[in-house]
Amino acid sequence: MTKALTLLGLESSCDDTAAAVVRRTDAGTEVLASVVFGQAELHSAFGGVVPEIAARAHTEKLDTSVQQALEAAGVTLADLDAVAVTAGPGLIGGVLAGVMCAKGICAATGLPLVGVNHLAGHALTPRMTDDIAFPYLMLLVSGGHCQFLVVRGPDDFSRLGGTIDDAPGEAFDKVARLLGLPQPGGPSVEAEAAKGNATRFRMPRPLLDRDDCNLSFSGLKTALLRARDGVIAEKGGLTRADRADLCAGFQEAVVEVLAAKLRRALSIYLEERPDVPTVAVAGGVAANGAIRAALEQVAAEAGAAFVAPPLRFCTDNAAMIAYAGIELFEGGQRDDMTLAARPRWPLDRSGPAMLGSGKKGAKA
Ligand code: KG4
Ligand code: ZN
Repeated sequence: MTKALTLLGLESSCDDTAAAVVRRTDAGTEVLASVVFGQAELHSAFGGVVPEIAARAHTEKLDTSVQQALEAAGVTLADLDAVAVTAGPGLIGGVLAGVMCAKGICAATGLPLVGVNHLAGHALTPRMTDDIAFPYLMLLVSGGHCQFLVVRGPDDFSRLGGTIDDAPGEAFDKVARLLGLPQPGGPSVEAEAAKGNATRFRMPRPLLDRDDCNLSFSGLKTALLRARDGVIAEKGGLTRADRADLCAGFQEAVVEVLAAKLRRALSIYLEERPDVPTVAVAGGVAANGAIRAALEQVAAEAGAAFVAPPLRFCTDNAAMIAYAGIELFEGGQRDDMTLAARPRWPLDRSGPAMLGSGKKGAKA
């Protein structure tokens, strides 16, 4: 019987302030509480996350979120074994706010501190929700991230490829803005696409000619802008049908690109580990029905199991940070007051540094 571990987790690397309490025992993992304060309305007028506004809002909400998470979990600080906090990558002001808050709690209580990579939190989530074994292939697709990872251990990741510019969620959000649809763009573009004809506007399939696992989404959004302007120049405006057809064409391109690159990543992964054929996805974009169905299909064709955690643990949350903290803590990780907030922090230390930094922060 291994020791039961109860950790508080904090997350503040982008535009969600979150705290959670997670417990792991021999019987499994239980999320005792997961509190998330989103900041969407604070940033909506600016068309993107404003780092200074985000940092201030995190500072204001962190204490409350910790208090609410402890109360909802029915525990006190004395019941905890450690505090886990996102120490990067992300918007530096927000990451700093979380790290300072965690350090304060640890200094006051003597609890151990565990710094967690935000991307490791996403990547380990399928173990928290579905108890899957290492290794597995992971596709992270959100507003800030897009990468294929082979997850071998809580601190052992290989990056097979990722976006060289925008993340897909970012592209959905930009397309929604270009078409006057509400934010976040993913759900509104998906709803329009369901009513549209995907063959009317033929969008590019970037990087499909390249035999690697890298992706690109910024050209797609430019193609959509051109197609939109073409219709406006011709007819003087966009009808509802035009908008739906543009969304359908765009979404189909994203679906095809993600599916093709997953096929590629899966074949590389399965060459190495045909004995453990598992694909997991996380990130807000995995909520998209067409994308999810296409990825599931690719996994099924390759004979691989497909795991997609419930949406509230796919999008940014602190339960994934507390859980990653548990695995790292079990592996012996202890941080101290010198723990640094890192705007960039690639998971794969041997991989090349990524270029560019998205609207929602560094893509690491
Ligand atoms: O994981 P997440 O909550 O935050 C981070 O970016 O880390 O993902 C949010 C992103 C947004 O860009 C949103 O537009 C996108 O996920 N999204 C979707 C859908 N639902 C959310 N994209 C496509 N289709 C959806 N149904
Ligand atoms: Zn995230």
